[in-house]
Amino acid sequence: MANPAQAQALRHYLQFTDLSAEDYAHIFKRAALIKAKFKAYEKYQPLTDRTLAMIFEKASTRTRVSFEAGMYQMGGSVVHLTTGDSQLGRAEPIEDSARVISRMVDLVMIRTYGQDKIEKFAAHSRVPVINGLTNEFHPCQILADIFTYIEHRGSIQGKTVAWVGDGNNMANTWLQAADLLGFKVNLSTPSGYEVDPAVVGVRSADSTQFFKDPMQACEGADLVTTDVWTSMGYEAENEARKKAFADWCVDEDMMKVAKPDALFMHCLPAHRGEEVSAEVIDGPQSVVWDEAENRMHAQKALMEFLLLGKV
Ligand code: CP
Ligand code: NVA
Repeated sequence: MANPAQAQALRHYLQFTDLSAEDYAHIFKRAALIKAKFKAYEKYQPLTDRTLAMIFEKASTRTRVSFEAGMYQMGGSVVHLTTGDSQLGRAEPIEDSARVISRMVDLVMIRTYGQDKIEKFAAHSRVPVINGLTNEFHPCQILADIFTYIEHRGSIQGKTVAWVGDGNNMANTWLQAADLLGFKVNLSTPSGYEVDPAVVGVRSADSTQFFKDPMQACEGADLVTTDVWTSMGYEAENEARKKAFADWCVDEDMMKVAKPDALFMHCLPAHRGEEVSAEVIDGPQSVVWDEAENRMHAQKALMEFLLLGKV
């Protein structure tokens, strides 16, 4: 199909706040419907002849498989690029890459380092750009996580999410989502690894509470969630982080102080015995496999929304 006059107004998904609460309500409804069709082996191909370019400057399993399988299932096709096998790794300006790639495809997903890079790409792109993870944000993951919460427990509005661990891309995105969709985040990070409010871009006075003690953050929570101690790009800090994060392991004691029906989520990949105990991630409250699968269903709804609008 390849652009340029998209029927749909050009919208990017670079951070969680790029969509409204109404947009999310629509996408969650569509994700449930698209998932039901998938489970029933019912063909649903509204993106026939559309092409998605996926640019990976960092490793990935879930993001690649979910976007690639999702796009094929919707009738489209994908082009997979990495820094190493494209001119991106040989210093072609990001603006030029955006101008060229977006003339040939209908949609672009990027996983990279700084948020500034994806913003620069989007500013020079003719087609919607999706953030597949940056140092600052991981909106597709939180989209899937909230969809998973809704599937298991209903609306997340008014609920409390406990974040135990690094003030990273996932934590930042949870804070944006809480502010936008009306739930609370109890945040506990080791000192020196707090979130940067300037990055999150919300004051979070109502939706966020900070706790020194991770146990306190989990008290009464509806959902307990965490992530790796060392994100991609921060590997040089690994040893220092292992020491600083030693008390930020989600274990059964933490789950016990949360609500009895609290869920556990982790975006994966996980390190059992570091940020989460095996008993918790492999235990009855964990929904991590649904969460991972829902990346695909939620992103199919997101791609449909960005390319076709509110169908
Ligand atoms: N959760 C997530 O984004 O996983 P990948 O790094 O495997 O894509
Ligand atoms: N915070 C992690 C998430 C991986 C999906 C990272 O950025 O490496």
